Amino acid sequence: MATTTAPAGVAELQQAIRALAKDKRAVILAHNYERAVVQDVADYVGDSLGLSREAAKTTADVIVFCGVHFMAETAAILSPTKTVLLPDLAAGCSLADTVTADQLKAWKAEHPGAVVVSYVNTTAAVKAESDWCCTSGNAVEVINAIPADKEILFLPDMFLGAHVRRITGRDNIHVWMGECHVHAGIDPEHINRQRAAHPGAEFLIHPECGCATPALEAVSAGAISAEGVQILSTEGMIQRPGKSTNDTFIVATEVGILHRLRKANPTKTFIAASEQAVCGFMKVTTLLKVQHALETMTHRVTVPADVATRARQALDRMVSVGASKAAPPPRDPGE
Ligand code: 13P
Ligand code: SF4
Repeated sequence: MATTTAPAGVAELQQAIRALAKDKRAVILAHNYERAVVQDVADYVGDSLGLSREAAKTTADVIVFCGVHFMAETAAILSPTKTVLLPDLAAGCSLADTVTADQLKAWKAEHPGAVVVSYVNTTAAVKAESDWCCTSGNAVEVINAIPADKEILFLPDMFLGAHVRRITGRDNIHVWMGECHVHAGIDPEHINRQRAAHPGAEFLIHPECGCATPALEAVSAGAISAEGVQILSTEGMIQRPGKSTNDTFIVATEVGILHRLRKANPTKTFIAASEQAVCGFMKVTTLLKVQHALETMTHRVTVPADVATRARQALDRMVSVGASKAAPPPRDPGE
């Protein structure tokens, strides 16, 4: 399927943004769920892990983060000397909102000695109360890095938690009952409908999905071929079609990823498991807001030093574990 052509005026705006980025020595980072036109103006497009790694190593003075607030906070912690901008402060995350630092402290008090593993979709204050962070791209590796006899508190996503419990076979993982409204909304009914319409297609499923657990149960029961089901982070999804001989894929995650999948694999077909899987928080960022952010150097995201220091340890552990081979190398900010 062909990718959409940018409407007149968009190319000019993208050019103006690129010129501004060069002028301000800024790097533009965009998550895989961002609008297509925003992804196309970015230096680097990727998943949470890849974006964190880019933020940590950039030589730019300014990071324009086209993603959601916790991702910009993560960039600010990993690159404390840089100016981190979020084009619209309304870019929140329903999953990160399911747990506060005080709730985590209370949970820790119930399980003294347990190791806390927080998914990166959490506030900086929650990360500061955590021993490890992880993303969907390295959650299993992070759990495997913790001694088998240690109790683990995993938060906040219950579907990702169920996934890591299943893959690692550990029964000493306590899971917080949070969920993302977008992924929880992709249910087995969507999968069944799309499977019936596209027999033989591969399923690429994000572990935050409400359908991930039932899909894997169906694999165990023999109802779905294990070969046809891949539980992947968004970056894992980007890499999968290049490794697969299949030419049709049903994609169970936020629909923004379809742009990059189609761009990278123009001869293959990608179908959304649910066209309703749209993260409004990711879509608040527009080209005009990116331009405004660069012109005015707003909205700056900062993290209090004491919180940042404590969160940094958990994030450094996350960034060092697992591989997220991502997108093309970033442009030099001066390019
Ligand atoms: P990834 O880490 O796979 O990019 O997922 C981030 C996210 O917000 C999923 O909803
Ligand atoms: Fe948060 Fe869900 Fe949006 Fe990802 S898709 S940013 S988890 S609300």
